[in-house]
Amino acid sequence: MKALLLAGGTGTRLRPFSYSMPKQLIPIANRPVLEHVLDNIRALGVVDIGVVVGDHGPEIADALGDGSRFGLRLTYLHQTAPLGLAHAVLVAGDFLGDDDFVMYLGDNMLPQGVTAALEAFLTARPAVQTIVHKVPDPSAFGVAEIDAGGRVTRLVEKPAAPRSDLALIGVYFFTPAIHEAIAAITPSARGELEITDAIQWLVERGSDVRAHEYTGYWKDTGRVEDVLACNRELLEGLRRSVLGHVDDASRLIGAVVLEAGARVVRSRIEGPAVIGAGSLIEDSSIGAHTSVGRNCRISGTRLDCSIALDGATVTGVRGLYGSVIGRGAVVGVAEDEPRGHRLVVGDHTHVEVAA
Ligand code: DAU
Repeated sequence: MKALLLAGGTGTRLRPFSYSMPKQLIPIANRPVLEHVLDNIRALGVVDIGVVVGDHGPEIADALGDGSRFGLRLTYLHQTAPLGLAHAVLVAGDFLGDDDFVMYLGDNMLPQGVTAALEAFLTARPAVQTIVHKVPDPSAFGVAEIDAGGRVTRLVEKPAAPRSDLALIGVYFFTPAIHEAIAAITPSARGELEITDAIQWLVERGSDVRAHEYTGYWKDTGRVEDVLACNRELLEGLRRSVLGHVDDASRLIGAVVLEAGARVVRSRIEGPAVIGAGSLIEDSSIGAHTSVGRNCRISGTRLDCSIALDGATVTGVRGLYGSVIGRGAVVGVAEDEPRGHRLVVGDHTHVEVAA
């Protein structure tokens, strides 16, 4: 079995971060989403992975290399435009050949893994094994209707009025039957070749399409709120590890990961929290559920429930909450500036200041 990892797309819902980095590299608990995804694929025993990339391909290749660091073999496949999930399978035609494959959307976080779904696929060997998850409102996802035996009777992509509460998770186990279906469908109203439509095409022709229900934690990290929520969830599983330096005037409470070369000076860090290599935390208080990337400088600041990406600097801000601070971004207090806040913010940036 092979894997097809989808890491193209535009990431418009993750602006402004997706302007300068592929959304699949946004860090959750200080590791890019794609590294978490590769962990789950490796747990399936699959080694050969085709990685579909778009314009951000070089950056993804820089981050993941040839995969040997993870014990995997990665082959990069360039998709000229994000024309849909089924189009990505078309792009990967030569790589996939006639093998079964797992298709994994590169923004889906499933900390409990998908090995149970693989077992279901190998046991019954349906044409397609989908994975579904109950959500209160699945209208932002593919929606599945299933019968009592777990067979899919209907799939619709992002319906306005969902007929079930089962959202399609972005991990699919396919036999080569999917290729004929993809060749038969046409682009949807949003102009994409939808994998949901290809699977529905198989359902309509009486193929065996099944749904495995995943009951663990699932997040499609498409929006900033999802990234923060997922960061909180993953940090809950953190184990304390202090490799960096902590001075006598500082306190680390609970599950704090301080990577090698990080320094904590006259500060308090409440876990679960992770501080990346080479970062300096001074005269600050870092609250629970916060990830600080590598080579950041947090000074005279209180930071809670937030993510600072590599190289970020925050100085003198007492009360930052639920924030995501981009790579190399600088947040600080203007000295002797009575007129108010001074902001230099990029396109589609979101700023909230206390009234
Ligand atoms: O997250 C689960 C949902 O993922 C499913 O419930 C939906 O049925 C499925 O269509 C998909 O919906 P999204 O609208 O969230 O897909 P998105 O456009 O965000 O793309 C998912 C991943 O695939 C993302 O990492 C980008 C990548 N991608 C996307 C497109 C459209 C590609 O590599 N190439 C593409 O052409």
